Amino acid sequence: MRTDPILRVCNLSKRFGGVNAVYDVSFYLYEGETLGIIGPNGSGKSTLINLITGFVKPDSGKVYFRGRDITGITPDKAVSLGIARSFQLVRPFYNMAVYKNLVIPLYSPRVRKLKGGKYGDRDEVAIHLLEEVGFERDSQVPFKTAGTLPHGYMKRLELARCLSLQPEVVILDELFSGMSMSEIASMLPLLEKINREEGRTLIMVEHRLRELFRVVGKVIVLNFGMKIAEGTPAEVMEVEEVRKAYLGSEVEAGA
Ligand SMILES: Nc1ncnc2c1ncn2[C@@H]1O[C@H](COP(=O)(O)OP(=O)(O)OP(=O)(O)O)[C@@H](O)[C@H]1O
Ligand SMILES: [Mg+2]
Repeated sequence: MRTDPILRVCNLSKRFGGVNAVYDVSFYLYEGETLGIIGPNGSGKSTLINLITGFVKPDSGKVYFRGRDITGITPDKAVSLGIARSFQLVRPFYNMAVYKNLVIPLYSPRVRKLKGGKYGDRDEVAIHLLEEVGFERDSQVPFKTAGTLPHGYMKRLELARCLSLQPEVVILDELFSGMSMSEIASMLPLLEKINREEGRTLIMVEHRLRELFRVVGKVIVLNFGMKIAEGTPAEVMEVEEVRKAYLGSEVEAGA
């Protein structure tokens, strides 16, 4: 018999003023699965992530992690359970060295509990993590202030910050946005490793469908806060309503 899904979202809704940002959305995901969340601008993707990770409280509906009700959890509690997310708008500590941005999460209660004293020198772990996400080995960039990083490297730092928390569920909000095709291509093996080798469950919000569909096995599509389709990438792109939702938007629908 299969165990509980690692994440189950039931009838989640959130209104902002007159706007149904997320309306009656349900889905579930088993451990080790990969899910893409797609939809036009303003369709509720980031709000859905904010609801799951505790940055926004739902008006109604439930969120379960491994069968446990975590609805309305605080963000730090979500992290301590093993749910970590990256932000669409990256806000590092700009005046701090790049690698020091990671030393902070590396001293979080979750990492201390999991790794304790065995983790060694946190500065070294931070540098190693930066190399994992694509900072060149032995470069001086990790020692510069984070504010000096080009956009693509800011996104890599954000991914490293998320991964430093040893998450079981990794939620990435538009990791690829603003990255060049070659930058994205260089991220794909790492995302595969996170999921396939390390067994982490991966949720990605993306507008870059072609690249997203190389990573995820399952997709849900939001439009005006509602889930309008769910299935494999090929299945959802066949749905008439999905094609219509994407018409005129910046996204290539035939990915
Ligand atoms: N804190 C907030 N206060 C008021 N309205 C909000 C807030 N957050 C989101 N919204 C509104 O909720 C709707 C969904 O926004 P959300 O950011 O979740 O969309 P999205 O799918 O992530 O869009 P994008 O692709 O542009 O990132 C939008 O109409 C947005 O203006
Ligand atoms: Mg968003």
